[in-house]
Amino acid sequence: MKTWSRKELVAKAIEARENAYAPYSNYKVGAALLGKSGRIYTGGNVENAVYPLTTCAERAVVVKAVSEGEREFVALAVATENAGSPCGSCRQVLREFGEDIVVLIADIAGNYREAKVGDLLPDSFSSKDLEEIE
Ligand code: THU
Repeated sequence: MKTWSRKELVAKAIEARENAYAPYSNYKVGAALLGKSGRIYTGGNVENAVYPLTTCAERAVVVKAVSEGEREFVALAVATENAGSPCGSCRQVLREFGEDIVVLIADIAGNYREAKVGDLLPDSFSSKDLEEIE
């Protein structure tokens, strides 16, 4: 993986936010996920009239990427109006693919803070825990 631009990934997340389907909460979220292949997968949250069936933007892009064959990731940018933090479920779904994935938590002006998945979800459950079972 060559060098990559945090600013560009954040810009893609802000752009993807336009496609968020959030008629119930009106809280639009955009995400952009950079795979080790160099490909960037983008998406938004997808709500449902049956509220719990909503898919967060972060999970939407992970599902998009993994179902297209990408397995390793460099970074994910997530953009909301107020730089909201990724929910616990999304942290766990990202963690499945590594603790070193960089997460950029952005607002729609392009300001962002940065953390690794492992910092956002310390002492997490993973495939290693399953290996320890006899
Ligand atoms: N949401 C996300 O897309 N990602 C998160 O990490 C937190 C919440 C969405 C779900 C729902 O459509 C809206 O934001 C309000 O919860």
